[in-house]
Amino acid sequence: MSLLTQKFLLLCVLTLLSAHDVFAAHSDSFIRRTQHVNVTNYLSDNLDLTLHCKSADDDLGVHLLHHGGNVRWGFGLSVFGETLFFCSFKWNDELHRFDIYRQDRDQDVCRSCNWYIMKSGPCRFNGDKSDLCFSWNNN
Ligand SMILES: *[C@@H]1O[C@H](CO)[C@@H](O)[C@H](O)[C@H]1NC(C)=O
Repeated sequence: MSLLTQKFLLLCVLTLLSAHDVFAAHSDSFIRRTQHVNVTNYLSDNLDLTLHCKSADDDLGVHLLHHGGNVRWGFGLSVFGETLFFCSFKWNDELHRFDIYRQDRDQDVCRSCNWYIMKSGPCRFNGDKSDLCFSWNNN
């Protein structure tokens, strides 16, 4: 195939792709979709939870949640699939960490990710299925 033919074919393919809005659909699912995370204090013994979450770009600050209290935030996803929010969880003299949002783990699971925090670790509501509970990160 001559170089000119190759260039022509490439142009045809690109035209077809954009005509079918392939790029728009792509960017819609990977960039413009806003995700939400909602974290609720379900610690037993009516304990207060001190929560501090961050990503590479954002520090969401320190939140003191009474039992049943929650905090919720929204964010866009990275095109590179690497969006990460990590949190520390404190009550009494316990301190734990957990990656509350990991794009590689969560992007196909929830757009509105609804977590509740127990002493044993965080659990995610899973619609009609049973909730998924995780262990704390190793410190
Ligand atoms: C966050 O989760 C709590 C506990 O499930 C729920 O009561 C609350 O409505 C949720 N908030 C939003 C905005 O979804």
